[in-house]
Amino acid sequence: IPVRIFSDSEHASVAIARELADFIRHRTREGRLAVLGLATGSSPTRVYEELVRLHREEGLSFQNVVTFNLDEYFPMQPDSLQSYVRFMREYLFDHIDILPENVHIPDGTVPADQVGGFCRHYEEQIRAVGGIDWQLLGIGRTGHIGFNEPGSGAASRTRLITLDHITRTDAASDFYGEENVPRRAITMGVGTILEARNIVLLAWGEGKAAVVKRMVEGEPTDTVPATYLQHHPAVQVILDEAAAAELS
Ligand code: F6R
Repeated sequence: IPVRIFSDSEHASVAIARELADFIRHRTREGRLAVLGLATGSSPTRVYEELVRLHREEGLSFQNVVTFNLDEYFPMQPDSLQSYVRFMREYLFDHIDILPENVHIPDGTVPADQVGGFCRHYEEQIRAVGGIDWQLLGIGRTGHIGFNEPGSGAASRTRLITLDHITRTDAASDFYGEENVPRRAITMGVGTILEARNIVLLAWGEGKAAVVKRMVEGEPTDTVPATYLQHHPAVQVILDEAAAAELS
């Protein structure tokens, strides 16, 4: 699995934002859409800030960009502090010229008995624009990508999932206590993610070093769903030195 190690997350994030911008510009020149899969959380925030700067200062346009976010808590109101809809607006969508109809985020307000249909429709929407060109990922301490917790198979699709205890612990501060963290989420599946043509996974800091080692050097297994990325033909793992510290 190709790994690129940067001195720090700042340099790495700026480099990835520029590569993404080049891809968007290239697609725009060809008159084609650029279809991006996006992650929330702390790992991609600096990438989004740099994309906003490129939009404001260097004329990068998102008018030909279509986005699909990986996941959303369930249930979740879009205007809640912790919603991924709100997160994406704050870090990216409110500051660029993307068309609202081109933004897709799993809907945390769908009635429980309609989630299955919603998830199938989400996958259909991805297929309808020709699939995801460029998927940005983080990795959780459980080895999750999206919210595909341990036990998620390589063929899993967009669905409702029960969050791992460790994931809920990590989210506790955002929700002012673990008891307030939703027990479930809607997530793209591992199989959905693996269909993206290019995948870029970001991981920063010593807290990710152990799971990064398992992802890169461990046998592919559903106990660490990120290990399934090893099969992907065009994946890059982008690390700072602290996250790379345990690699042999
Ligand atoms: C978020 C997502 C998650 C996070 C992961 C790492 O949309 O899909 O897999 O990428 O939990 O989170 P951070 O970046 O906050 O360490």
